Amino acid sequence: MENPSRTAEYLERMEARRRSLRARQAQILPPQARFTWEIGSGHGHFLTAYAQSHPTELCIGIDIIGERVERALRKRDRASLANLHFIHAEARLFQETLPADATFSRLFILFPDPWPKLRHHKHRIMQPDFLAAVAARAGAGARLYFRTDFTPYYDDTKAVLSSHPNWDILSDGSEPWPFEHETVFQARAPSYHSLIARPKQPTTTPPNPLGEPLDTLP
Ligand SMILES: C[S@@+](CC[C@H](N)C(=O)[O-])C[C@H]1O[C@@H](n2cnc3c(N)ncnc32)[C@H](O)[C@@H]1O
Repeated sequence: MENPSRTAEYLERMEARRRSLRARQAQILPPQARFTWEIGSGHGHFLTAYAQSHPTELCIGIDIIGERVERALRKRDRASLANLHFIHAEARLFQETLPADATFSRLFILFPDPWPKLRHHKHRIMQPDFLAAVAARAGAGARLYFRTDFTPYYDDTKAVLSSHPNWDILSDGSEPWPFEHETVFQARAPSYHSLIARPKQPTTTPPNPLGEPLDTLP
């Protein structure tokens, strides 16, 4: 049975995290911010190199493990990059607390934890509900870049995205991977798969059968 005082404690802890994330986001995101986002940025190798070669983009890496974020921040400081931030945050909470007018242009999810056992699949980040929430934060022309060395996770992600109401997978080779820099997990992988997805285009209003502008119709 649930212990009400422990539940209240948990809810208060989550609310405190939300408050602190909102405060951090307010410090780094200007109004109507457009940013490049990495979920599970680990020690920050990829995003540091990316931010260095894209100095006009605001780059934000998040990771759930504090010690990794600290290492990433040290890397950022050594490179003196003002356009790069690493935040200790869980992806869902970070997405949920983003200001309403903030959108991402590129989202990188590179070698996320594969959770190979069926009973652990619920912990995977590439879930339909999370992908729907992420799509709501996508700006015009946004792209999602996913890479993994675990073939079953790649296949499952491809299936989830292909049947997803908010995402289209780009066909192989139709767009290049925008930036290459080996991540820690990539360096250990004998091979890997990548995919690029974009938010579904809004469907255009079908032309009216009379060929008249709608506002002239009775
Ligand atoms: C397998 S590592 C890959 C790290 C890095 N992308 C790389 O390729 O070397 C996965 C990373 O995702 C982080 N992570 C896992 N679940 C997360 C979540 N829900 N929110 C944010 N980070 C998460 C882990 O702490 C870990 O650093």
